[in-house]
Amino acid sequence: MAYFSNKLAFITGGSSGIGLATASLLASQGCNLVLFARGEKMLAEACKAVQARMDKTSQSVNAVSMDVADNNDVQQKIKTAVERFGTPDILINSAGVGSGNYFENISYEQFDRSMKINVYGTRNTISAILPYMKQKGGGHVVNISSMAGLIGMFGYSLYCTTKYALVGFSECLRSELKRFNIKVTLVCPPEVKTPFLEEEAKTLPPEGRAVKNLAGLLKPEQAARAIVRGIKRKKFLVVPGLAAKFLFFQHRVSNGFFTRMPSDLIVRFAAWRSKKR
Ligand SMILES: NC(=O)c1ccc[n+]([C@@H]2O[C@H](COP(=O)([O-])OP(=O)(O)OC[C@H]3O[C@@H](n4cnc5c(N)ncnc54)[C@H](OP(=O)(O)O)[C@@H]3O)[C@@H](O)[C@H]2O)c1
Repeated sequence: MAYFSNKLAFITGGSSGIGLATASLLASQGCNLVLFARGEKMLAEACKAVQARMDKTSQSVNAVSMDVADNNDVQQKIKTAVERFGTPDILINSAGVGSGNYFENISYEQFDRSMKINVYGTRNTISAILPYMKQKGGGHVVNISSMAGLIGMFGYSLYCTTKYALVGFSECLRSELKRFNIKVTLVCPPEVKTPFLEEEAKTLPPEGRAVKNLAGLLKPEQAARAIVRGIKRKKFLVVPGLAAKFLFFQHRVSNGFFTRMPSDLIVRFAAWRSKKR
């Protein structure tokens, strides 16, 4: 029997981008799904798209409107979702927001908002689901961080802070949740072509844009394949894409030298070019 057949996955940020592509791929492999996000219209459209990938009539996809940054909302909605659909075998935390800007242009309020969604949002859903997974005797938690959680980049002081936090959080949880038979997978994708990029591009400095090209660009389906493979293999760290894997390897073996040095050169060149325009 296929690995995901009859399993149940809860996916935050399941209405768009990486979360939606992962939901669709899991659906095609027999998984039942509950998608969480704030916008109800996009959730309804996502459910239709995911449903179309399901083979068996017994499979189901449902949607719950929830704001991951609001802990009371999360505790309440997860409780209701577990009562209605059952305890998930897999929780994928994909809800997140991105932004790129010079640090001096980022307000306290913007910093606070991203931390609340990207970091606290992940914390909130895990904390709400943990008692149920413990009671069930196991599960799998998947946190979507980013290459920006492994390598610091120009223009990403806010986003990197949130994604580095998820790396540390996931490392600790991996170790702690093992005793409950709950696996943890940390996913660090490079740039992925989703609506997220359009939002980010509004304020991303040219130097940040140029440095980001080093890690490559993936389609959401490619990121989803790497995520689903990583879950099946129970891997801790998943870095989708060859260019990103290579960059991360270089970063680690050179203790950052082979990423900082080219990145500083690229930043100088991009700044010079943008002044000339
Ligand atoms: N795209 C990339 O280049 C890239 C690269 C590396 C990592 N990532 C990470 O991958 C994850 C998914 O990104 P994506 O590219 O798929 O972005 P996306 O297409 O913009 O999707 C983001 C999803 O998160 C949901 N969301 C945002 N804020 C939320 C909140 N407060 N509560 C509940 N749901 C919320 C959105 O729905 P609503 O707005 O309706 O709530 C949407 O479903 C993020 O964590 C991102 O940091 C993205």
